[in-house]
Amino acid sequence: KEHISEVEKFTADTKDAIEAFRIKYLGKKGLLNEFFAEFKNVPNDQKKEFGQTINTLKINATEKVNLLKEALESKTEEAGKYGDLTRPGEAMALGARHPISIVKNQIIDIFSRIGFNVSEGPEIEDDWHNFTALNLPEYHPARDMQDTFFIQTDPDILLRTHTSSVQVRYMENNKPPIRTISPGRVYRNEAISARSHCFFHQVEGLYIDKDVSFADLKQTLQFFTTELFGKSKIRLRPSYFPFTEPSAEVDVYWGLETETDYKMTKGTGWLEIMGCGMVDPNVLENCGIDSKEYSGFAFGMGIDRIALLLHQISDIRLLSENDVRFLEQFKSTL
Ligand code: PHE
Repeated sequence: KEHISEVEKFTADTKDAIEAFRIKYLGKKGLLNEFFAEFKNVPNDQKKEFGQTINTLKINATEKVNLLKEALESKTEEAGKYGDLTRPGEAMALGARHPISIVKNQIIDIFSRIGFNVSEGPEIEDDWHNFTALNLPEYHPARDMQDTFFIQTDPDILLRTHTSSVQVRYMENNKPPIRTISPGRVYRNEAISARSHCFFHQVEGLYIDKDVSFADLKQTLQFFTTELFGKSKIRLRPSYFPFTEPSAEVDVYWGLETETDYKMTKGTGWLEIMGCGMVDPNVLENCGIDSKEYSGFAFGMGIDRIALLLHQISDIRLLSENDVRFLEQFKSTL
């Protein structure tokens, strides 16, 4: 009878404690088996009561074990719903900024320090903004300098070959003074190799005001290359672009310290990084700016090439293949 009340009072919330209780009463060598063995020694007149008592004890103990087990199970199930709330958190996998974005942001940052804002435009352009307004009328031979992707059904619609198209849009919609850079993706129908791709990224710059001179252009470029590369020696080589006159190609002196330098610069130490020039008066007039009152300069560079240089990447295709093993290497450059 004592045991019956003990069973009634018993409670446990671990598997081990419940099992110990079960063994104590219901196990092979447990109390109940002992009592049943004792039964034959009980005097006849007490047999009935003794029998009833141990039967009750057996039923109660069995029930108790089942109840406790059920309670334990539903408790672990509940906890499972939320997971183990005491476990330490898992580290979050941080992404990395793409090298194109890293370099683009660096360039934007440098020019914003000398008063340039950022302008953007559509990648699908019309002939006017990509060519004609830029002093490249129909049948102009220089159109072939940039192999163009056309939309088959309409020769007027194309994928922009440079972000000079954004500068045209900017001039059409803003009055001088203008100081803007136009970063963005451009497309050219070129064979894909380690050095060139059919799409890449540019930052083009435009500065229009009264009395802007070639010296202003040179100083701006000098400032920019020093900030970006930490190398200050540049040279301008005469070149040709339909939208600038005079035009020049900008080289940075890279030095010849390593074999890579030698290869990159073809043994001269000079590395071409952009095109530039004084905006052709025809372009200003095409965009509604009085060329007798205003002058300006423009420049354009490829972000991809500069990213290859700065991060010593050997193949331009890596920039668009999205291989995480490549991208993960830029985590520290965030
Ligand atoms: N638009 C030229 C290109 O894509 C670059 C450039 C821009 C050259 C501005 C001169 C002036 O090649």
